[in-house]
Order: sequence, then C-alpha cells, then structure tokens
Amino acid sequence: MKKILFIYAILITFNSLNAKEYFPNWGKTGHRTVGAIAENYLSCKTKKKIAKLLNGESLAYGSIYADEIRSNPKYNEFAPWHYVNFDSGKKYGETPVNPKGDIIQGIKTCILKIRKSETSIADKQFYLKFLVHLIGDLHQPLHVGNAADKGGNTIAVEWFNTPSNLHRVWDSEMIDSYKMSYSELTKNTKKLSKTELATIQSGSLLDWVYESKALADKVYASAKKEDHLKYKYMYDFFPVVEKRLHKSGIRLAYLLEHVFSKKTAWMESFFKGI
Ligand code: ADE
Ligand code: ZN
Ligand code: ZN
Repeated sequence: MKKILFIYAILITFNSLNAKEYFPNWGKTGHRTVGAIAENYLSCKTKKKIAKLLNGESLAYGSIYADEIRSNPKYNEFAPWHYVNFDSGKKYGETPVNPKGDIIQGIKTCILKIRKSETSIADKQFYLKFLVHLIGDLHQPLHVGNAADKGGNTIAVEWFNTPSNLHRVWDSEMIDSYKMSYSELTKNTKKLSKTELATIQSGSLLDWVYESKALADKVYASAKKEDHLKYKYMYDFFPVVEKRLHKSGIRLAYLLEHVFSKKTAWMESFFKGI
C-alpha cells in the first residue's frame, strides 16, 4: 500500500511540474486583473455590447478561458497563440514565423472574427474571451521570449526556497506572493493623466510586441539558472508586473472600443507590418 502511495505521489508531482512548465499564462489573478482593469476604462456603449455578447459574464471571468481549454486536445491548434519567440535584436518575421501561429496572428484572428458579421455568436464569444486573454499574455515579457529557453520555462530558479522557473516567476509567483485578489489589484492602480493614457494607447500591435521584447531582455539579464530569488527580486520587479497589468488593461479597453465600433480606419495602422 505504502509503495502504491509513493508511486502515486511521484506521478502527481511529475505531472504538476510538467503542467506548470507548459501551461503558459499570467496566472488566474493576473489575467482577471487585466480584464477587470479594462472594464474600468470601457465606455458604457461598449460595455453594454460586451455584456450582451457574453450574457453578462465579466471580462475578468472570461479572461482565463483560453487557459482552461488547453487541457482539451480539441483545442490543440490554439496552443501556440499564447506567445511568440524570436531572437533579440531581430524584427518579427526576420526569422521564420511559426506556421502554426503565434500571439500576434492569434490577436489578429480574434479581432477579425469578432468583427465579421457571419461569425456565429458562440464563435464571437470564444474569440472575445481569447482576445482578452492574449492581450494579457502579450504584456508578460517572457511571452515574447527566446525559443531556446521556451520563454524562460527551462531556466530553473528557486522562488522563496521552492523549485520554479523564470517564466513562472513572471507568470504567477510574484503575483501570488503579493497575496492580493484581482479586485484589490484592480483598485490599487494609479490614476493616470490623459496624456499618460494617450501614450499607453498609442502604437501598433507590433510596437506593443517590441516593448515586451525589450522588457524580456531585461528580465533575462535579471536572473540566471539556479538563482535563489526572493524578497530582493520581488522588491525590484513586482512594481514592473503591476505596471504591465495596468497597461495591458488600458490597451485592452482601447482595443475593444475599436473592435466593437463600425469604423475600420484604425485597423491598417494597428496591424502595420503583420
Ligand atoms: N513555450 C515556448 N515558448 C514560450 C513562451 N515564450 N511563453 C510561454 N510558453 C512558451
Ligand atoms: Zn506564461
Ligand atoms: Zn496564455
């Protein structure tokens, strides 16, 4: 009996380590924060359209759907949508683009599907929830990472004396260690001026990608394999995480205003270079 329990424990540990490595996301709290922040920046008109489409479900609630379906093989084709890897110093497309898709193509597809009148309601719900999730993922710097280390997933580090990896530290360890709910994190955001908001909302999708890439370079320089990360790392980088979540929510709201409007002129500049 003891032997069976022992084997069972090993299997569970092995499975959960694997799952964590290959289930890429900001973590539930991070994604919900992005959705809730976005709702605070939406116009009443857009909020109503979204509430109608999602049957009253909040963006925070829908934000983790794209990760929940990852365990269902039916949705395997969407797995590469959560990230994009390319070499630092290179532009997107200079090295071969993943033919199975990436976060850039994923975001573009979601937007086009939601706007298309022929798309079914069920599909519009699917792609809207996916879009909310992907705008969050795009702002986790290591989702615009290096292919060789799977966006930091293979850089093993310790987080407060427990085995982790650099990707997971940025996805969820820092946020979870802060021990605030998503609604508390949402309330905790700094009030921004009109100019600050306009600066954050400006730029194309590729500009946002390169911003994450530049931050990813700094994250890679911040830690190395086998590092024991704790208070000092949290002190240095949690404020960065908070700013990324805030920025992500603001940009999501801005994008949704456009996605749910009849206007089309914004699309050319937003998708420039893709
Ligand atoms: N798997 C491979 N590359 C990844 C990345 N940059 N982010 C998350 N998961 C990945
Ligand atoms: Zn991730
Ligand atoms: Zn994800």
